[in-house]
Amino acid sequence: MKQKIQAIRGMEDVLPDAAPLWEMLEDACRAVFRQYGYRNIRTPLVEPTALFVRGIGEVTDIVEKEMYVFDDRNGESLALRPEATAGIVRSAIEHNFLYNGPMRVWTLGPMFRYERPQKGRQREFHQFDVEALGFEGPDVDAEQIVMLARLWKALGLDNVELHINSIGDAGDRKTHREKLIAYFERHAALLDEDARRRLQTNPLRILDSKNPAMQAMIEDAPMLIDELGEGAQRHFDELKRLLALAGIAFRVNPRIVRGLDYYNRTVFEFISPDVGAQSTLAGGGRYDTLFEQLGGKPTPACGFASGVERVLLAMQSAGAKAASGPDVFVVHAGESALEAAWRAAEALRDSRLNVVLGPGGSMKSQMKRADASGAPWAVIIGDDEARSKHVTVKSMRSGEQQTKDLAGAIAFISQVNA
Ligand code: HAM
Repeated sequence: MKQKIQAIRGMEDVLPDAAPLWEMLEDACRAVFRQYGYRNIRTPLVEPTALFVRGIGEVTDIVEKEMYVFDDRNGESLALRPEATAGIVRSAIEHNFLYNGPMRVWTLGPMFRYERPQKGRQREFHQFDVEALGFEGPDVDAEQIVMLARLWKALGLDNVELHINSIGDAGDRKTHREKLIAYFERHAALLDEDARRRLQTNPLRILDSKNPAMQAMIEDAPMLIDELGEGAQRHFDELKRLLALAGIAFRVNPRIVRGLDYYNRTVFEFISPDVGAQSTLAGGGRYDTLFEQLGGKPTPACGFASGVERVLLAMQSAGAKAASGPDVFVVHAGESALEAAWRAAEALRDSRLNVVLGPGGSMKSQMKRADASGAPWAVIIGDDEARSKHVTVKSMRSGEQQTKDLAGAIAFISQVNA
Protein backbone atom coordinates (compact mmCIF):
# COMPACT_ATOMS: atom_id res chain seq x y z
CA MET A 1 0.00 0.00 0.00
CA LYS A 2 1.17 3.53 -0.69
CA GLN A 3 2.00 5.78 2.23
CA LYS A 4 -0.88 7.96 3.37
CA ILE A 5 -0.70 11.70 3.05
CA GLN A 6 -1.66 13.71 6.12
CA ALA A 7 -2.82 17.28 6.66
CA ILE A 8 -0.14 19.83 7.51
CA ARG A 9 0.58 20.28 11.23
CA GLY A 10 -1.61 23.03 12.67
CA MET A 11 -4.07 22.89 9.76
CA GLU A 12 -7.24 21.07 10.61
CA ASP A 13 -10.16 19.48 8.79
CA VAL A 14 -13.64 20.46 9.88
CA LEU A 15 -15.56 17.19 9.55
CA PRO A 16 -19.32 17.02 8.94
CA ASP A 17 -20.05 16.28 12.62
CA ALA A 18 -18.31 19.49 13.65
CA ALA A 19 -19.70 21.65 10.85
CA PRO A 20 -23.15 22.44 12.34
CA LEU A 21 -21.54 24.49 15.13
CA TRP A 22 -19.49 26.40 12.52
CA GLU A 23 -22.66 27.09 10.58
CA MET A 24 -24.41 28.26 13.72
CA LEU A 25 -21.59 30.75 14.35
CA GLU A 26 -21.50 31.89 10.72
CA ASP A 27 -25.29 32.40 10.67
CA ALA A 28 -25.13 34.42 13.89
CA CYS A 29 -22.31 36.62 12.48
CA ARG A 30 -24.24 37.26 9.30
CA ALA A 31 -27.43 38.15 11.18
CA VAL A 32 -25.86 40.36 13.86
CA PHE A 33 -23.47 42.23 11.53
CA ARG A 34 -26.31 42.95 9.13
CA GLN A 35 -28.28 44.46 12.02
CA TYR A 36 -25.54 47.09 12.35
CA GLY A 37 -25.19 47.83 8.64
CA TYR A 38 -22.00 45.81 7.96
CA ARG A 39 -21.63 44.55 4.41
CA ASN A 40 -19.74 41.45 3.36
CA ILE A 41 -16.38 41.74 1.60
CA ARG A 42 -14.00 38.99 0.43
CA THR A 43 -10.37 39.66 -0.37
CA PRO A 44 -7.66 37.25 -1.62
CA LEU A 45 -5.92 34.81 0.72
CA VAL A 46 -2.62 35.68 -0.94
CA GLU A 47 -1.23 39.23 -1.08
CA PRO A 48 2.13 40.85 -1.84
CA THR A 49 4.40 40.30 1.19
CA ALA A 50 5.09 44.05 1.29
CA LEU A 51 1.44 44.73 2.22
CA PHE A 52 1.83 43.00 5.58
CA VAL A 53 5.37 44.24 6.20
CA ARG A 54 4.16 47.81 5.78
CA GLY A 55 0.73 47.31 7.33
CA ILE A 56 1.40 45.14 10.39
CA GLY A 57 4.97 46.39 10.93
CA GLU A 58 8.39 44.98 10.17
CA VAL A 59 9.37 44.42 13.80
CA THR A 60 6.38 42.34 14.96
CA ASP A 61 6.11 38.62 15.74
CA ILE A 62 3.72 38.13 12.84
CA VAL A 63 6.02 39.61 10.21
CA GLU A 64 9.32 38.45 11.68
CA LYS A 65 8.44 34.86 12.51
CA GLU A 66 4.94 33.80 11.56
CA MET A 67 4.21 34.58 7.93
CA TYR A 68 4.05 31.98 5.21
CA VAL A 69 6.11 33.71 2.52
CA PHE A 70 7.05 32.31 -0.88
CA ASP A 71 8.19 33.50 -4.29
CA ASP A 72 5.78 32.78 -7.12
CA ARG A 73 6.99 31.65 -10.53
CA ASN A 74 7.78 35.24 -11.50
CA GLY A 75 9.92 35.75 -8.43
CA GLU A 76 7.40 38.06 -6.73
CA SER A 77 7.32 37.67 -2.95
CA LEU A 78 3.82 36.66 -1.81
CA ALA A 79 2.39 35.86 1.61
CA LEU A 80 -0.60 33.88 2.88
CA ARG A 81 -2.61 36.46 4.78
CA PRO A 82 -1.95 36.36 8.55
CA GLU A 83 -4.89 38.71 9.13
CA ALA A 84 -7.56 40.52 7.11
CA THR A 85 -7.28 44.23 7.93
CA ALA A 86 -4.33 45.08 5.65
CA GLY A 87 -5.99 43.36 2.68
CA ILE A 88 -9.29 45.14 3.24
CA VAL A 89 -7.57 48.53 3.46
CA ARG A 90 -5.57 47.73 0.32
CA SER A 91 -8.84 46.90 -1.41
CA ALA A 92 -10.54 50.11 -0.21
CA ILE A 93 -7.65 52.18 -1.57
CA GLU A 94 -7.39 50.22 -4.82
CA HIS A 95 -11.13 50.47 -5.63
CA ASN A 96 -11.62 53.82 -3.92
CA PHE A 97 -14.79 52.36 -2.43
CA LEU A 98 -15.02 55.04 0.28
CA TYR A 99 -15.56 57.63 -2.46
CA ASN A 100 -19.21 58.08 -1.48
CA GLY A 101 -18.57 58.06 2.25
CA PRO A 102 -17.59 55.73 5.06
CA MET A 103 -18.38 52.03 4.90
CA ARG A 104 -18.84 49.19 7.36
CA VAL A 105 -17.56 45.82 6.10
CA TRP A 106 -16.95 42.34 7.46
CA THR A 107 -15.41 39.09 6.26
CA LEU A 108 -14.90 35.54 7.48
CA GLY A 109 -12.22 33.14 6.32
CA PRO A 110 -8.90 31.39 6.85
CA MET A 111 -5.74 33.15 8.07
CA PHE A 112 -2.26 31.67 8.31
CA ARG A 113 0.39 32.08 11.00
CA TYR A 114 3.36 29.82 11.62
CA GLU A 115 2.88 29.53 15.38
CA ARG A 116 3.34 26.55 17.69
CA PRO A 117 0.02 24.68 17.50
CA GLN A 118 -1.88 24.06 20.73
CA LYS A 119 -5.48 24.11 21.90
CA GLY A 120 -7.04 27.25 20.40
CA ARG A 121 -4.00 28.02 18.25
CA GLN A 122 -3.53 26.70 14.73
CA ARG A 123 -1.39 27.56 11.74
CA GLU A 124 -4.45 27.77 9.56
CA PHE A 125 -7.20 29.34 11.64
CA HIS A 126 -10.33 31.31 10.84
CA GLN A 127 -11.36 34.80 11.76
CA PHE A 128 -14.44 36.84 11.43
CA ASP A 129 -13.17 40.34 10.87
CA VAL A 130 -15.13 43.58 11.08
CA GLU A 131 -13.97 47.00 9.89
CA ALA A 132 -15.60 50.45 10.02
CA LEU A 133 -13.74 52.48 7.40
CA GLY A 134 -13.85 56.28 7.42
CA PHE A 135 -15.32 56.71 10.93
CA GLU A 136 -13.62 58.92 13.48
CA GLY A 137 -15.34 57.47 16.52
CA PRO A 138 -15.52 57.01 19.43
CA ASP A 139 -19.18 56.15 18.83
CA VAL A 140 -18.26 53.55 16.22
CA ASP A 141 -15.61 52.05 18.56
CA ALA A 142 -18.36 51.63 21.17
CA GLU A 143 -20.82 50.33 18.59
CA GLN A 144 -18.44 47.55 17.52
CA ILE A 145 -17.96 46.47 21.13
CA VAL A 146 -21.71 46.51 21.76
CA MET A 147 -22.22 44.50 18.56
CA LEU A 148 -19.70 41.87 19.69
CA ALA A 149 -21.41 41.65 23.07
CA ARG A 150 -24.68 41.02 21.22
CA LEU A 151 -23.00 38.27 19.20
CA TRP A 152 -21.63 36.55 22.33
CA LYS A 153 -25.13 36.61 23.78
CA ALA A 154 -26.63 35.14 20.60
CA LEU A 155 -24.07 32.32 20.85
CA GLY A 156 -24.87 31.62 24.49
CA LEU A 157 -21.55 32.97 25.83
CA ASP A 158 -22.11 34.89 29.02
CA ASN A 159 -18.68 34.48 30.57
CA VAL A 160 -16.63 36.85 28.40
CA GLU A 161 -14.63 39.75 29.85
CA LEU A 162 -14.01 42.99 28.02
CA HIS A 163 -10.65 44.72 28.46
CA ILE A 164 -10.11 48.15 26.93
CA ASN A 165 -7.19 50.55 26.75
CA SER A 166 -6.00 53.60 24.86
CA ILE A 167 -2.56 53.64 23.30
CA GLY A 168 -2.85 57.31 22.36
CA ASP A 169 -1.76 59.16 19.25
CA ALA A 170 1.63 59.28 17.52
CA GLY A 171 2.95 62.10 19.75
CA ASP A 172 1.83 60.31 22.93
CA ARG A 173 3.52 57.14 21.77
CA LYS A 174 6.75 59.03 21.03
CA THR A 175 6.93 60.33 24.59
CA HIS A 176 6.10 56.88 25.91
CA ARG A 177 8.67 55.25 23.64
CA GLU A 178 11.46 57.39 25.06
CA LYS A 179 10.45 56.54 28.61
CA LEU A 180 10.16 52.88 27.67
CA ILE A 181 13.63 52.76 26.12
CA ALA A 182 15.13 54.44 29.18
CA TYR A 183 13.30 51.96 31.44
CA PHE A 184 14.40 48.89 29.46
CA GLU A 185 17.97 50.20 29.32
CA ARG A 186 17.96 50.38 33.11
CA HIS A 187 16.90 46.70 33.11
CA ALA A 188 19.10 45.63 30.19
CA ALA A 189 20.41 42.60 32.10
CA LEU A 190 16.92 41.07 32.10
CA LEU A 191 16.26 41.50 28.36
CA ASP A 192 16.37 38.43 26.14
CA GLU A 193 17.84 38.48 22.65
CA ASP A 194 14.54 39.41 20.94
CA ALA A 195 13.98 42.28 23.34
CA ARG A 196 17.51 43.63 22.96
CA ARG A 197 17.07 43.66 19.21
CA ARG A 198 13.70 45.44 19.49
CA LEU A 199 14.91 47.99 22.03
CA GLN A 200 15.80 50.63 19.45
CA THR A 201 13.48 49.56 16.62
CA ASN A 202 10.16 48.81 18.34
CA PRO A 203 10.31 48.85 22.15
CA LEU A 204 6.51 48.66 22.45
CA ARG A 205 6.64 45.12 21.08
CA ILE A 206 8.86 44.06 24.01
CA LEU A 207 5.68 44.40 26.07
CA ASP A 208 4.14 41.51 24.06
CA SER A 209 6.96 39.16 25.10
CA LYS A 210 5.78 35.84 26.47
CA ASN A 211 9.17 35.14 28.14
CA PRO A 212 8.30 34.32 31.79
CA ALA A 213 11.66 35.66 32.99
CA MET A 214 10.73 39.14 31.75
CA GLN A 215 7.12 39.33 32.97
CA ALA A 216 7.74 41.03 36.34
CA MET A 217 9.96 43.65 34.72
CA ILE A 218 7.38 44.24 31.96
CA GLU A 219 4.65 44.64 34.61
CA ASP A 220 6.44 47.69 36.01
CA ALA A 221 7.25 49.34 32.68
CA PRO A 222 5.85 52.84 31.98
CA MET A 223 2.35 52.72 30.53
CA LEU A 224 0.98 54.50 27.48
CA ILE A 225 -2.27 55.35 29.21
CA ASP A 226 -0.31 57.71 31.48
CA GLU A 227 0.89 59.70 28.45
CA LEU A 228 -2.41 60.38 26.66
CA GLY A 229 -2.74 63.83 25.09
CA GLU A 230 -5.97 65.78 25.28
CA GLY A 231 -7.53 64.38 22.06
CA ALA A 232 -6.86 60.74 22.89
CA GLN A 233 -7.99 61.25 26.49
CA ARG A 234 -11.30 62.78 25.39
CA HIS A 235 -11.84 59.95 22.88
CA PHE A 236 -11.21 57.35 25.58
CA ASP A 237 -13.47 59.06 28.14
CA GLU A 238 -16.29 59.21 25.60
CA LEU A 239 -15.84 55.53 24.72
CA LYS A 240 -16.10 54.60 28.40
CA ARG A 241 -19.20 56.77 28.80
CA LEU A 242 -20.92 55.15 25.80
CA LEU A 243 -20.11 51.64 27.00
CA ALA A 244 -21.49 52.41 30.44
CA LEU A 245 -24.59 53.86 28.79
CA ALA A 246 -25.07 50.61 26.86
CA GLY A 247 -24.69 48.60 30.06
CA ILE A 248 -21.48 46.89 28.91
CA ALA A 249 -19.12 45.93 31.73
CA PHE A 250 -15.42 46.58 31.00
CA ARG A 251 -12.06 46.73 32.66
CA VAL A 252 -9.43 49.31 31.72
CA ASN A 253 -6.32 47.20 31.21
CA PRO A 254 -3.26 49.37 30.52
CA ARG A 255 -1.29 46.26 29.51
CA ILE A 256 -3.22 45.72 26.29
CA VAL A 257 -0.98 46.98 23.50
CA ARG A 258 -1.90 44.44 20.75
CA GLY A 259 0.64 42.65 18.58
CA LEU A 260 0.29 44.73 15.41
CA ASP A 261 1.80 48.19 14.80
CA TYR A 262 -1.13 49.90 13.10
CA TYR A 263 -3.16 50.73 16.21
CA ASN A 264 -3.72 54.09 17.90
CA ARG A 265 -6.15 55.30 20.58
CA THR A 266 -8.75 52.59 21.34
CA VAL A 267 -7.62 48.97 21.69
CA PHE A 268 -9.72 46.19 23.18
CA GLU A 269 -9.87 42.45 23.75
CA PHE A 270 -12.59 40.04 24.79
CA ILE A 271 -11.24 37.26 27.01
CA SER A 272 -12.92 33.97 27.93
CA PRO A 273 -11.74 32.21 31.08
CA ASP A 274 -13.29 28.96 29.73
CA VAL A 275 -11.03 28.01 26.84
CA GLY A 276 -7.54 27.52 28.29
CA ALA A 277 -4.32 29.42 27.64
CA GLN A 278 -5.40 30.90 24.31
CA SER A 279 -8.17 32.87 25.92
CA THR A 280 -8.44 35.96 23.71
CA LEU A 281 -11.64 35.45 21.73
CA ALA A 282 -11.39 38.74 19.86
CA GLY A 283 -9.16 41.77 19.62
CA GLY A 284 -9.12 45.04 17.77
CA GLY A 285 -9.00 48.78 17.90
CA ARG A 286 -8.55 51.97 15.98
CA TYR A 287 -6.04 52.35 13.14
CA ASP A 288 -6.26 55.93 11.92
CA THR A 289 -2.95 55.98 10.00
CA LEU A 290 -3.01 52.62 8.18
CA PHE A 291 -4.57 54.04 5.00
CA GLU A 292 -1.66 56.50 4.69
CA GLN A 293 0.86 53.77 5.48
CA LEU A 294 -0.50 51.84 2.52
CA GLY A 295 -0.52 54.82 0.13
CA GLY A 296 -4.10 56.00 0.60
CA LYS A 297 -5.66 59.25 1.81
CA PRO A 298 -5.89 59.84 5.57
CA THR A 299 -8.92 57.79 6.67
CA PRO A 300 -9.84 57.06 10.28
CA ALA A 301 -10.96 53.48 10.93
CA CYS A 302 -11.68 50.95 13.62
CA GLY A 303 -12.10 47.17 13.60
CA PHE A 304 -11.61 43.85 15.28
CA ALA A 305 -11.18 40.17 14.51
CA SER A 306 -12.10 37.03 16.38
CA GLY A 307 -10.73 33.51 16.19
CA VAL A 308 -13.55 31.18 15.11
CA GLU A 309 -11.93 28.04 16.58
CA ARG A 310 -11.59 29.75 19.97
CA VAL A 311 -15.17 30.96 19.94
CA LEU A 312 -16.28 27.40 19.11
CA LEU A 313 -14.31 26.08 22.11
CA ALA A 314 -16.08 28.61 24.31
CA MET A 315 -19.45 27.63 22.82
CA GLN A 316 -18.73 23.96 23.48
CA SER A 317 -17.78 24.62 27.05
CA ALA A 318 -21.02 26.62 27.43
CA GLY A 319 -22.90 23.53 26.20
CA ALA A 320 -23.95 24.84 22.79
CA LYS A 321 -25.62 22.33 20.52
CA ALA A 322 -26.39 23.07 16.91
CA ALA A 323 -29.37 21.52 15.24
CA SER A 324 -28.26 19.22 12.45
CA GLY A 325 -29.61 16.23 10.60
CA PRO A 326 -32.63 16.05 8.33
CA ASP A 327 -36.30 16.50 9.24
CA VAL A 328 -37.31 13.35 7.43
CA PHE A 329 -35.60 10.08 6.49
CA VAL A 330 -37.35 8.28 3.65
CA VAL A 331 -37.14 4.50 3.86
CA HIS A 332 -38.06 2.42 0.84
CA ALA A 333 -38.09 -1.30 0.15
CA GLY A 334 -39.29 -3.06 -2.93
CA GLU A 335 -38.95 -2.34 -6.62
CA SER A 336 -41.91 -0.06 -7.18
CA ALA A 337 -41.12 1.77 -3.94
CA LEU A 338 -37.97 3.53 -5.17
CA GLU A 339 -39.86 5.65 -7.66
CA ALA A 340 -42.56 6.53 -5.10
CA ALA A 341 -39.89 7.32 -2.50
CA TRP A 342 -38.03 9.60 -4.88
CA ARG A 343 -41.28 11.45 -5.66
CA ALA A 344 -42.17 11.70 -1.96
CA ALA A 345 -38.72 13.05 -1.07
CA GLU A 346 -38.95 15.78 -3.73
CA ALA A 347 -42.49 16.71 -2.64
CA LEU A 348 -41.34 16.95 1.01
CA ARG A 349 -38.46 19.21 -0.12
CA ASP A 350 -40.96 21.37 -2.04
CA SER A 351 -42.45 22.04 1.40
CA ARG A 352 -39.02 23.22 2.63
CA LEU A 353 -38.33 20.08 4.66
CA ASN A 354 -34.80 18.60 4.79
CA VAL A 355 -34.94 15.07 3.52
CA VAL A 356 -32.47 12.17 3.26
CA LEU A 357 -33.41 9.32 0.97
CA GLY A 358 -32.47 5.90 2.34
CA PRO A 359 -30.26 3.60 0.30
CA GLY A 360 -32.87 0.84 -0.15
CA GLY A 361 -32.22 -2.71 0.98
CA SER A 362 -33.58 -4.20 4.17
CA MET A 363 -36.15 -2.25 6.22
CA LYS A 364 -34.26 -3.04 9.41
CA SER A 365 -30.93 -1.58 8.29
CA GLN A 366 -32.61 1.51 6.84
CA MET A 367 -34.53 2.12 10.08
CA LYS A 368 -31.18 1.95 11.89
CA ARG A 369 -29.83 4.61 9.54
CA ALA A 370 -32.96 6.71 10.00
CA ASP A 371 -32.39 6.57 13.75
CA ALA A 372 -28.69 7.50 13.44
CA SER A 373 -29.52 10.43 11.16
CA GLY A 374 -31.30 12.18 14.01
CA ALA A 375 -34.39 12.79 11.85
CA PRO A 376 -37.53 13.12 14.00
CA TRP A 377 -39.63 11.49 11.24
CA ALA A 378 -39.34 8.48 8.99
CA VAL A 379 -41.51 8.15 5.92
CA ILE A 380 -41.74 4.47 5.01
CA ILE A 381 -42.67 3.26 1.55
CA GLY A 382 -42.88 -0.41 0.64
CA ASP A 383 -44.43 -2.08 -2.41
CA ASP A 384 -47.85 -2.10 -0.71
CA GLU A 385 -47.69 1.61 0.08
CA ALA A 386 -46.48 2.34 -3.44
CA ARG A 387 -49.43 0.47 -4.87
CA SER A 388 -52.00 2.13 -2.58
CA LYS A 389 -50.33 5.56 -3.02
CA HIS A 390 -50.01 5.90 0.75
CA VAL A 391 -46.99 6.26 3.02
CA THR A 392 -46.36 5.33 6.64
CA VAL A 393 -45.23 8.22 8.83
CA LYS A 394 -43.30 7.12 11.89
CA SER A 395 -42.29 9.37 14.76
CA MET A 396 -38.71 8.39 15.62
CA ARG A 397 -39.21 9.82 19.11
CA SER A 398 -42.41 8.03 20.20
CA GLY A 399 -42.47 5.15 17.73
CA GLU A 400 -46.08 5.98 16.78
CA GLN A 401 -47.00 5.39 13.17
CA GLN A 402 -49.86 6.30 10.89
CA THR A 403 -50.73 5.79 7.25
CA LYS A 404 -51.63 8.77 5.09
CA ASP A 405 -51.67 9.78 1.47
CA LEU A 406 -48.59 11.79 0.47
CA ALA A 407 -50.27 15.22 0.67
CA GLY A 408 -51.66 14.36 4.11
CA ALA A 409 -48.26 13.14 5.32
CA ILE A 410 -46.55 16.33 4.16
CA ALA A 411 -49.21 18.53 5.77
CA PHE A 412 -48.92 16.56 9.03
CA ILE A 413 -45.08 16.67 9.23
CA SER A 414 -44.94 20.35 8.24
CA GLN A 415 -47.47 21.23 10.90
CA VAL A 416 -45.81 19.42 13.83
CA ASN A 417 -42.40 20.46 12.61
CA ALA A 418 -43.24 24.18 12.59
P1 HAM B 1 -5.15 39.54 16.32
O1 HAM B 1 -5.20 39.89 17.78
O2 HAM B 1 -3.83 39.21 15.77
O3 HAM B 1 -5.78 40.76 15.55
O4 HAM B 1 -6.12 38.34 16.04
C1 HAM B 1 -7.50 38.42 16.39
C2 HAM B 1 -7.97 37.09 16.96
O5 HAM B 1 -7.69 36.03 16.07
C3 HAM B 1 -7.30 36.66 18.24
O6 HAM B 1 -7.88 37.32 19.36
C4 HAM B 1 -7.59 35.18 18.26
O7 HAM B 1 -8.92 34.95 18.71
C5 HAM B 1 -7.51 34.82 16.79
N1 HAM B 1 -6.20 34.22 16.47
C6 HAM B 1 -5.04 34.85 16.22
N2 HAM B 1 -4.05 33.96 15.95
C7 HAM B 1 -4.61 32.73 16.04
C8 HAM B 1 -4.13 31.39 15.86
N3 HAM B 1 -2.87 31.13 15.51
N4 HAM B 1 -5.01 30.36 16.04
C9 HAM B 1 -6.30 30.61 16.37
N5 HAM B 1 -6.80 31.84 16.55
C10 HAM B 1 -5.98 32.90 16.38
C11 HAM B 1 -5.91 40.83 14.19
O8 HAM B 1 -5.75 39.89 13.46
C12 HAM B 1 -6.37 42.19 13.69
N6 HAM B 1 -6.41 42.14 12.21
C13 HAM B 1 -7.73 42.54 14.26
C14 HAM B 1 -8.26 43.84 13.76
C15 HAM B 1 -9.17 44.03 12.77
N7 HAM B 1 -7.88 45.04 14.18
C16 HAM B 1 -8.53 45.96 13.47
N8 HAM B 1 -9.30 45.36 12.64
